[in-house]
Amino acid sequence: MSTIIPDTYVVIGNPVAHSKSPAIHARFAAQTGQAIDYRRLQAPLDGFAAAVQAFRQAGGKGANVTVPFKLEAFALATQLTPRAQAAGAVNTLKFDGEEIVGDNTDGIGLVADIVRNAGVALQGKRVLLLGAGGAARGALLPLLEQHPATLTIANRTPARAQDLLTLARPFAGHTALRASSFEALQQAYDVIINATSASLNDQVPPVSPAVFGAHTLAYDMMYAARPTAFLRLAAAHGAACRDGLGMLVEQAAAAFELWRGVRPQTATVLAGLRAELVGG
Ligand code: ATR
Repeated sequence: MSTIIPDTYVVIGNPVAHSKSPAIHARFAAQTGQAIDYRRLQAPLDGFAAAVQAFRQAGGKGANVTVPFKLEAFALATQLTPRAQAAGAVNTLKFDGEEIVGDNTDGIGLVADIVRNAGVALQGKRVLLLGAGGAARGALLPLLEQHPATLTIANRTPARAQDLLTLARPFAGHTALRASSFEALQQAYDVIINATSASLNDQVPPVSPAVFGAHTLAYDMMYAARPTAFLRLAAAHGAACRDGLGMLVEQAAAAFELWRGVRPQTATVLAGLRAELVGG
């Protein structure tokens, strides 16, 4: 009788105790019949690369990378996917012989949650991206691959929006790109994505109510048991609202597929996580 030793994966961050990734991947593994062992690994703030290498030496097959190590993961990878290159950050590592493959599934997770789960096409739409940090940058290429009519990047520090616009230009195709301050936004958008970290402090980017139209989808990359301040504002102005829990599940599904070659079903996993989140 042979014993199957499961392949091991981790989510590496600091802090990492509250990560939902082990629960998500355990559900994916059960659903697809894949034998994997997935745990949390807290790396010291100055010890990310050493922690990854030790895990690899011990036979680890791959890792999800979360705050604050996504830039270090980008630097550590020996091969980068085009979307990781465009994002300038890595959230998924796959150990393949001597190679450390770096991918970024955050942006495709966002797009999958909007297009597939929420059923809102992005093609031909007017899209507003709030924020110009790492989260916003990670979304750029996957958003542009959906061919929106316009993509406006607005940020508290407008120069950073301009920098992101320059990065986006090579991928823009027929999408009209704009950079803006929050204050200059005066028209309605079809889809508004909050990629700022304002929600962490229960704050809202100071946008005019005019950005919310009758058919606007307001999306916050953050999630919590209650709607974020941004989603409360959007709902008060008639927008449909969605938080980032689905993005979390979809980015995990894309990582799982990269590692295991099997695409998990996300709907039941998302519903289960939602029930746990709301139930406290
Ligand atoms: P992340 O990796 O989460 O994107 P980041 O790179 O530090 O983190 O970027 C944070 C983003 O949230 C930036 O766009 C930041 O705006 P600035 O570039 O002007 O700093 C934005 N942000 C953070 N707090 C905010 C707030 N209270 N209101 C509006 N924007 C905020």
